[in-house]
Amino acid sequence: MNSVVSVVNIARCVAGGIISLFFIMQMVQGDDLVRFSSADYLSPVILPVNDQQANSEEDEEDETAKKHAAHAKDIAKFPPIGPLSPAKIPADNPQTPAKIELGKKLFFDPRLSGNNWISCATCHNPALGFADGLPRFIGGPGSKEGGRHSPTIINCAYNELQFWDGRAPTLEAQAIGPVQNPDEMFETLDSAVRKLSKLPDYVKAFQEVFGTGVTVDGIAKALAAFERTIIYANSPFDKYMQGDATAMNESAKRGMNLFNGKAECIICHNGPNFTDNKFHNIGVPAEGPIKEDLGRYNITKNESDKGAFKTPTLRNITDTAPYMHDGFFPTLFEVVQFYNVGGGRSENKSHHIHSLRLTPEEVNDLIEFLKALTGEPVQITYEASPIIYPNLPKSF
Ligand code: HEC
Ligand code: HEC
Repeated sequence: MNSVVSVVNIARCVAGGIISLFFIMQMVQGDDLVRFSSADYLSPVILPVNDQQANSEEDEEDETAKKHAAHAKDIAKFPPIGPLSPAKIPADNPQTPAKIELGKKLFFDPRLSGNNWISCATCHNPALGFADGLPRFIGGPGSKEGGRHSPTIINCAYNELQFWDGRAPTLEAQAIGPVQNPDEMFETLDSAVRKLSKLPDYVKAFQEVFGTGVTVDGIAKALAAFERTIIYANSPFDKYMQGDATAMNESAKRGMNLFNGKAECIICHNGPNFTDNKFHNIGVPAEGPIKEDLGRYNITKNESDKGAFKTPTLRNITDTAPYMHDGFFPTLFEVVQFYNVGGGRSENKSHHIHSLRLTPEEVNDLIEFLKALTGEPVQITYEASPIIYPNLPKSF
């Protein structure tokens, strides 16, 4: 038994040494030379910094210290993180209980799709943090893998623009997109309206809410009204900020200081919803069917937007793995390690992304803080199992 254990230990040491060497080499060469593949993140690698390495990396440390000092000045000017205030409701789509109820029904109804199998909740499933738990979505008649990760729609009422590339200006404009998208729900709007018009419950509800029959405009408005109720708050972080000093543990408190300071997350994940609503290229490696996703550039055609994606909220982040626009990272540990070594490789990478030199304890503290951002639904509740999973295509 002992000999088995020691063989395992030796194997671990050797593997650990090789992996550390790999990272040391890259850190010595400088952040921009790092080329990532998913394998680099699968092992929990945290660099031991011994004296010898520290010497050989002095220059880089100076450089990092300079960058930290430069950023420290800036950090105070970012909107502080804190509890959410009520989301803005557009004047032309006021919230009413009947409209929200209609939107909820539509959201869970697979009849909005071409084969009556896929609902919004297939990819934005309340049981999976209103995402789908997959790296990249699966949809369309052939249930093919898409190019991007289904983002959570928790707190999407606070987004200034919708989608990873911000191509939809409002929730109303966004809502009918997936219905018509050939890779998602592959239904035509005419056909969706025709189908719903045959269902007396819907006809009655549209009449009550909008004073019309079933219309595309009504579908969009009701879905958006429902989505504006998917607000999650009262997280340990919120409680802590509202004066309950015991709501976050000591590690999470240290993590919050890192978030606002040394780790510089606040530069982009700022304000009560932890996003600046802007687009940045942080060098996330490409994975999945899209070989090079140009992100925001597809919309603006500005060179500076190449490979830039919307800063996502970090609220309820523990519920919505995997992470990033292409679902590249399976865990928060890998995400934080990615930032720690200076992000990925891209010619257009944001100058805010550089190596952070967080110690293993600091990495853990930052993760503890991210865990403290998970809250609970505060406006409406969902039945334990609002969707029975008939929504998956037959080929599953
Ligand atoms: C087949 C999977 C799938 C279905 C079905 C689906 N979505 Fe999505 N949803 C996605 C993906 C993937 C994205 C991100 C796409 C992108 O950024 O290009 C997204 C993005 C969104 C966003 C933007 C969130 C943000 O933070 O930017 C909202 C809101 C949304 N969907 C609502 C809906 C609604 C409402 C429906 C039903 C009418 C729906 N979705 C159906 C996969 C899906
Ligand atoms: C320069 C702006 C910027 C900084 C600084 C930054 N982020 Fe991000 N963050 C982003 C963007 C943009 C994305 C999405 C990138 C993508 O998908 O290509 C993201 C994605 C994430 C995600 C994945 C979210 C999801 O839903 O998939 C996590 C977690 C995260 N960041 C945490 C952090 C932490 C922790 C820090 C500090 C160590 C940090 N970020 C610093 C801009 C930034």
